[in-house]
Amino acid sequence: MEFIKVNSQFDKHVALIELNRPKELNALNLQLMGELRDALKELDDDNSVRVIILTGNEKAFAAGADIKQMADKSAIDMLKIDQFSTWDQIRKTKKPLIAAVSGFALGGGCELAMTCDMIIASETAKFGQPEIKIGVMPGAGGTQRLTKAIGKAKAMELVLTGRFISGQEAMGYGLVNKVVPVEMYMYEVSQLAKEIAQMSPIAAQLAKEAVNRSFETHLDEGLTFERKNFYLTFSSEDQKEGMAAFVEKRKPEYRGK
Ligand code: CAA
Repeated sequence: MEFIKVNSQFDKHVALIELNRPKELNALNLQLMGELRDALKELDDDNSVRVIILTGNEKAFAAGADIKQMADKSAIDMLKIDQFSTWDQIRKTKKPLIAAVSGFALGGGCELAMTCDMIIASETAKFGQPEIKIGVMPGAGGTQRLTKAIGKAKAMELVLTGRFISGQEAMGYGLVNKVVPVEMYMYEVSQLAKEIAQMSPIAAQLAKEAVNRSFETHLDEGLTFERKNFYLTFSSEDQKEGMAAFVEKRKPEYRGK
C-alpha cells in the first residue's frame, strides 16, 4: 500500500485507515482509491474488527479527486476508466465507518467523508464541493448525499458557488456529528468508535444497512427492510446475550455470533 496506512488493531475491535498522500493534500488518485477499496474489504472480512475509522492528516482529509490525473481526459476516457465502480465497492462496506476530518474535505474528499456513516470534524475542517470552479460538478455522490444531509437550499449554494464551510457550520447543517479542537478530533473519534465496538457487531451491521436504506429507497420499502433486519437480529446469540444482560443487570459480552 503506497497511499494509505492501515492499522487493524488501532483499539480493541477498532481499525484505522489513514490516507497518506500528504504532499498532494491526499488527492484521491485511482491507485489510492483502489488501495482504500481493498483495505476496507479486508477489514470487513476480519472478524476481530467491528468499527473502522477513516482519516487523513491535520491539514487535509482529502482535497478531492486527483485533478492532474483527470485534466486531459475525454468523457469516453472517463467512462472507460469507470472510477466510480471502486466507490460503489467502498459504499458496500458493512461495518460502521467513521470519518475523522481535519483540514480540507473538498470535492471527492467531501464525498468520501459523506460516504462514511458519521463524521467527527476538527475546528479547522473545511467542507466543500468546489468542482464548479474547475468546470465540472460533483461525481461521487455529492449532489445526492449533500442534499439529503443539509437540504436543498444549502446544497445548491455549495454546489453552485463552490464555497467552503467550516466544521462548525457543517455541524449546524447536520453534516457532521461533532466538532472539536484539532488536538482532540482523533481522541473524539476513537471514543465514538470504542462505544460502537462494544455493541453486537451483527446488530450494528444490520442497523447500518437499514439506516442507509432510508436514503436509497422510499419509505414503504425502507420500513419493510428495517423490519426484516430487526427480526434477523433475533437469530443471533448476541441478541440473547444483550437482552439477558439487561435483565440480569450486568454488562453484555458480545461474541459476534
Ligand atoms: N488534485 C490534484 N492535486 C491537488 C489537488 C487535487 N484535487 N488538491 C491539491 N493538489 C496539489 C496541488 O496541486 C499542490 O501540488 P504541487 O505542490 O505539486 O503544486 C499540492 O497539492 C498542495 O496544494 P496547494 O498548493 O494548492 O495548497 P493550498 O493550501 O494553496 O490550497 C486547496 C489548498 C484550496 C485545497 C487547493 O489545493 C485546491 O483548491 N485544490 C483543489 C480542490 C478541488 O477542486 N477539488 C475537487 C476536485 S474534482 C472532484 O473531486 C470530482 C469528483 O466529484 C469526484
